[in-house]
This record gives sequence, structure tokens and C-alpha cells, in this order.
Amino acid sequence: MRVQYLLSALPLLAPKSQKIVISNDDGWAVAQIRAQFDSLKDAGYEVILSAPAQNQSGTGSRSKTATDMREPCEYESCRVGSPAVGFNETDPRLNYVNAYPVDAARHGIQTLSPKFWSSKPDLLVSGPNVGRNLNVQVFFSGTIGAACEAAQQGVPAIAFSGQSTEHVSYTTLASDPTSEATLAAHAYASLTTTFVNTFLSSPSASLPPNTIISVNYPPLHNRSNCARKEDVKWVFTRTFPTIWRADMDICGNNGKLPTESEVVGYDEGCYASVSVLSATSKMDAGKEAQQEVLKTLGSLGFVCFAH
Ligand SMILES: *[C@@H]1O[C@H](CO)[C@@H](O)[C@H](O)[C@H]1NC(C)=O
Ligand SMILES: *[C@@H]1O[C@H](CO)[C@@H](O)[C@H](O)[C@H]1NC(C)=O
Repeated sequence: MRVQYLLSALPLLAPKSQKIVISNDDGWAVAQIRAQFDSLKDAGYEVILSAPAQNQSGTGSRSKTATDMREPCEYESCRVGSPAVGFNETDPRLNYVNAYPVDAARHGIQTLSPKFWSSKPDLLVSGPNVGRNLNVQVFFSGTIGAACEAAQQGVPAIAFSGQSTEHVSYTTLASDPTSEATLAAHAYASLTTTFVNTFLSSPSASLPPNTIISVNYPPLHNRSNCARKEDVKWVFTRTFPTIWRADMDICGNNGKLPTESEVVGYDEGCYASVSVLSATSKMDAGKEAQQEVLKTLGSLGFVCFAH
């Protein structure tokens, strides 16, 4: 009896290891995505990186068939003549796709997840992008494009973007550990992992159908009030200034959330913006979707935008 009890109790005691595919538009070898990959792995998640072989910034929701490498992957991270889709031989969870962010996200969800896990991922993390994605930038952003593709495949997806990083090779994380780009990569990675922890440990761990979340981080390190990741506060926002339908009512806002541009750009504060977008139109989602996301992320500790 005792043994039986222990055996049946075991699955409850073992923490469920959740599965994350991470993609971006800056390419598989930029510092920011590798810092994020390591941070999520260190937090106990199973992570597969599937990202473009090259910088594909600004390619939105474009898609094409991947082709063999006619030039090296970014930062010489693979050789000319390498296959259209490849991986790091010492760590096969690091994958590139020589196509667009949408194609890399799809490869991660449709091919790599079944191969490694025999299942879909629990979440797709897109980014953090090198640079912000505010307002109309969401239409051109490959970071947003990859997240929208995942949502359309039925996988919850969150896009992250931050201003302080630079487009540098992952090798600089080790070779230049105190550079601004390295420090920002680690700070944004840590904030993103906190966000992911909150999302995946919520009872639903899901998003309203056909929506994504878009998070933008403030610049760090160059202002005394926003120097460390601990200074960053989360604000619920909308992406576009023009309002077609009322937003949810919080913070006495009369049905209009602050825009992410005003929140992230507010130098007197240190705010990260959190917006809910339709995965098809890339416009702000309605207030029902906003309310559902607020409920899911409640324990993140949102603040009202004070300015
Ligand atoms: C990446 O591509 C974007 C868009 O073409 C460009 O603006 C940016 O300078 C590129 N970055 C690097 C490091 O190549
Ligand atoms: C491949 O993985 C190994 C071990 O993690 C690492 O040392 C190497 O830099 C990686 N190369 C690329 C291109 O990812």
C-alpha cells in the first residue's frame, strides 16, 4: 500500500517541466536570444531555439522556403554551403532556419517540438528584440510576426522588445561580460523569464484565441531611476493611439489605456509596457481579451501609469 501511494504521489511532486520555443528576427546567433535561452533553461524550462540564420529585422509576417546557405550565417556562425535548416552539433536545441522569423517559428512548432517532446510547446517566446516595437512598428516587426504565427498555430505567444541592446554576437556575452549590450541582454532576459514564470504558473497559462502579448522594455543603465531590472515596473498599455473600441477600465482611465510609446518613453519613470494584440490584424485586442490577460498575469504586479 505504501509503495503504491508513493508511486501515485510522484507525478504530483515532480514539477511539470514546461516547454518553450524561442525565436526572434535578429538571428539565431545574437547575444540577446542566447542570453534568453540560457536564462529560461536555468529557470528549469525545456527550451528549443529556432531562429533565422541571418538578421531578418523588419520582415514582418513574410514567409518563404528555406534555402541552403550561400553566405555564412550571421557572425560566421555557420559555413557557406550549410543546409537550409541546421543546428549546433554540441547542442541540437540551438537551430537556425535560412528564411524569415515566421518560418523559424513554424519550424520550431511543427518539426522540432514533435521531435524533441512529441508534443506542441506550451509557449513561444519571440525575442527579446534588439530595439523597441512600438505603434506601427508592429506591422513590420519580425518579432511580432513570429509571435503571430505561433498564435495562429494554437501556441500561446509573447513578443518582447527592448531598446538598450545592440546587435552583437552571442560570443560577446563571454568575451565582453561588462559591456552595455551584455548587461542589457542579461537584464532583459531576466525580466522576460520573470514574465514567463508568471504566465506559465497561472492557472490557465493560455491567451484568448488569436491574440499575442507584446512587451516593450525601457532603456536601462543610462538613467539613475532606471538602472537595474529591479527598477522596472509593469504597465498595461495599448499599442495604437487611435481608439476604435473602449479598453478595459483600470486605474480610473475611462476606458482608454496609456499607449506603450508614452509609457516606455517616459524618462521620469521606469516602465515596461504590456499590450494585447490581435494575431491577425496586429491591432489592439478588445477589452474582454485585455481583462483575461490581466487576470492571467495578475501576480506580475501591474502599476498605474503615473506621469
Ligand atoms: C538588421 O536589419 C535591419 C533591417 O534591414 C537593419 O536596419 C539593421 O541595421 C541590421 N542589423 C545588423 C547588425 O545587420
Ligand atoms: C555551439 O554550442 C557550443 C556549446 O554550447 C558553443 O560552445 C558554440 O559556441 C556554439 N556555436 C554556435 C554557432 O551556436
